[in-house]
Amino acid sequence: MITSVKEILTKAKEGGYAVGAFNTVNLETTRAIVAAAKALRSPVIIQVSEKTLEYAGGRGIFHLIKNEIEFYAGQIPIGIHLDHGHSFEIIQRVTDIGFPSVMYDGSRKDFVDNMEITKKVVDFCHERDVSVQGELGNVPYLSEQKMGDVDWDKYMTDPAQAEQFVETTGIDALAVAIGNAHGFFKEREMPDWERLDKIVSLVSVPIVLHGASDWEDGRATEAIERGVSCFNIDTNTRMAFVNALSSIFHENKDPGFDMRDILEQAREAVRESVKRKIELFGSNGKA
Ligand code: G3H
Ligand code: 13P
Ligand code: ZN
Repeated sequence: MITSVKEILTKAKEGGYAVGAFNTVNLETTRAIVAAAKALRSPVIIQVSEKTLEYAGGRGIFHLIKNEIEFYAGQIPIGIHLDHGHSFEIIQRVTDIGFPSVMYDGSRKDFVDNMEITKKVVDFCHERDVSVQGELGNVPYLSEQKMGDVDWDKYMTDPAQAEQFVETTGIDALAVAIGNAHGFFKEREMPDWERLDKIVSLVSVPIVLHGASDWEDGRATEAIERGVSCFNIDTNTRMAFVNALSSIFHENKDPGFDMRDILEQAREAVRESVKRKIELFGSNGKA
């Protein structure tokens, strides 16, 4: 059942668990995410990036996701969301298509510019009943810094600024930087838990953690205990998909020519990877 992202995140925050926001790019990943959510009776968010809007076509991918939810999810609450929208124009474009939730990512801008444009996005979106996630601080990408020591201080969310940012803009959720990074990246040795605690104490909206594919080993659990309500997962899904295809072609000399049989195996691998994340986040059984 298509459900508002704001409602999904608010329930997670109140219930003391987190939900996964899983990136999709096509039919296979979308159906796998829906199937995992259904199997574990878990709310989830399905999201697409700007690159995927170009790859799949905005209308095409939106209606594909909508259709998959309507036909296969039953009563399981699933949100549809734009991940990392970098301009006001892209927000206008996807809301015209029908996206009920967006992220405006102004994290590369200076504080005042980020706040100004995020507020403009919120005013525009709230008039249309579209929820908005903003980002403050900056979650780095693997491609930016493959090697060497990262100067984490320059990426971190400032708690006092976070309070002002949320109050001024009216956003519905806040993405923060506490030592997290996109991709399987050399994360900060320890997340800055004190910083997270401070942000949580000053900000009333749900907190989102990007770059969470490699947050295993108790890190995710601790983040939830300290108030994170949503984890963004993309790399983990891509790896499950591509690794499944890779082993099919390496282990089977004659995989045949029916791509449906081949892609179905990749889909199953994604479904299992999403199920593992849902269990880690504790959203299973919360639908
Ligand atoms: O956080 C960003 C996502 O992983 C999207 O990546 O732009 O390659 O689709 P993408
Ligand atoms: P990962 O690269 O860790 O999967 O992060 C995904 C993400 O933050 C999407 O917005
Ligand atoms: Zn992200």
